[in-house]
Amino acid sequence: MKPVKVGLLGLGTVGTGVVRIVEGNQEDLSRQVGSPIIIEKIAVKNIDKYRSIEVDGAKLTEDPWEVIRDPDIDIIIEVMGGVDQTKEYILEALERGKHIVTANKDLMALHGSEVLAKAQEKQCDVFYEASVAGGIPIIRTLIEGFSSDRITRIMGIVNGTTNFILTKMSQEGASYEEVLKEAQELGYAEADPTSDVEGLDAARKMAILGTLGFRSDVELKDVSVSGISKVTSEDIAFAKKLGYEMKLLGIAERQGDEFTINVQPTMVRKQHPLASVNGVFNAVYVHGEAVGETMFYGAGAGEMPTATSVVADLVAVVKNLKLGVNGLKAIVPYNPKKISNDED
Ligand code: HSE
Repeated sequence: MKPVKVGLLGLGTVGTGVVRIVEGNQEDLSRQVGSPIIIEKIAVKNIDKYRSIEVDGAKLTEDPWEVIRDPDIDIIIEVMGGVDQTKEYILEALERGKHIVTANKDLMALHGSEVLAKAQEKQCDVFYEASVAGGIPIIRTLIEGFSSDRITRIMGIVNGTTNFILTKMSQEGASYEEVLKEAQELGYAEADPTSDVEGLDAARKMAILGTLGFRSDVELKDVSVSGISKVTSEDIAFAKKLGYEMKLLGIAERQGDEFTINVQPTMVRKQHPLASVNGVFNAVYVHGEAVGETMFYGAGAGEMPTATSVVADLVAVVKNLKLGVNGLKAIVPYNPKKISNDED
């Protein structure tokens, strides 16, 4: 059985989890796909940095191009983050016929169409399950599970950092700054946590969910955003007194051929299932015309939950490789259109 060779871009929180899962579950993964999966090369920012896992130093490089250009590598996993430079790496990897697994919501929300068009041209897979809601397989669910339905509403707690902060402020009366620091230490927050607390991270995730759920080309500018940095402990206590919990909600709604998407701090009735989603957990509530109400719940950030989604995508890509098909047909979206221009 010829091994499948993988290049890893990034060995931070999620990259470390990916190595742990690929190595720790090697036997089971190999059995599922019919050959060993080897992480052949890893691009890191600093080779000499202390790491919580042991990695063969010969696999490490500080030059991502070395990974992209390696002819033995079939699949690139991108968990380094960033947008413009990272897009260049991914487009070049696709140009070379390599399949991509990415956790990069910023890249997919801003340049998803371009990346997917290149993938289609090159008959390559681009899977990005980990880009939204960490360990919850919501992207597969929207593309495959609900392909038969017409989704009318998606409501999501899709940012773990802000949910962690709001929960601790609500339950422990902790201060905003204190909890943000804790979320950073736990590896939940973005490198620049402004995008978490100002709602931009959630907006990018909602743009991806809207694109998939409404089968439309939702752009980031279609999402109105307001974050939690101005929410005070007093606001939270007042909401509680009235029987509500404060949550940063993304609400995407379709009415006829129009849709709206907002991300904003929202008072959620205590009886609503979203009100009891606490800590770093995420939840996505989906309403479809035929299916009615559904809800998906799980850890939205952190090393192992996010890495689980990355490695599940890796398994899907390897299975496709073996079958000689590509996931454009199975999992990655079509050519989304603006609903309002949809003449079908
Ligand atoms: N900063 C993000 C969050 C990480 O807190 O949800 C996962 O996308």
